[in-house]
Amino acid sequence: MSSESFSKVINLDLKNFTMTPATRKREVRLSELKDYFSDPAAANKILSSGRDPVVYEYYEYVVDESAGHLSLGLTIIYPGKVGKEYFMTRGHFHLKPAAEFYYGIRGRGMLLIQSEDGRAEYVELRPGVIGYVPPGWGHRTINTGRGKFVFFFAYPSDAGHDYGIVKEKGFAKIVIEEKGKPKVVDNPKYVSSTI
Ligand code: PA5
Ligand code: MN
Repeated sequence: MSSESFSKVINLDLKNFTMTPATRKREVRLSELKDYFSDPAAANKILSSGRDPVVYEYYEYVVDESAGHLSLGLTIIYPGKVGKEYFMTRGHFHLKPAAEFYYGIRGRGMLLIQSEDGRAEYVELRPGVIGYVPPGWGHRTINTGRGKFVFFFAYPSDAGHDYGIVKEKGFAKIVIEEKGKPKVVDNPKYVSSTI
């Protein structure tokens, strides 16, 4: 048994939306994410105007990568759209079937989940609401509000990440603004084939 101490204090600053300590802090800008949006031409238009906004950032604290531990984190998705589609995370599956939960802290958003055979569901998140990702389901979060969308997350540390499926196929649904309101619609670019 390890003699390392696991008594840790992890601080969530709910005013500035930071987490300390963190083993990882990452910012994802539009240039990195543009092909994930259903309208890359709209993304290119923003980029060619000289802007490359941060779409989201996250802090992660990996207590220990071995089985049985949890990884904890804080994600901030900025408000914005690419064409009609709201700013969102890349999205992923976990390599091992592992559950995850999101706890809404600030703003409004959606948690989109999808089974490996393409069944999609969504939960609206707002402060105080918990979204649950069942083991084996892919997940992406979307900022549907006008301010920052901030949430806390936790998942098993040994779950690993698979970003490839989402990159190749996308999600079956996308979240767009229509008449000033969020609407979940079929993704015109979704590749449903499992071959
Ligand atoms: O573990 C999660 O699902 C989240 O914490 C995400 O990693 C985070 O929101 C960033 O999204 P992504 O990993 O899809 O870039
Ligand atoms: Mn995850």
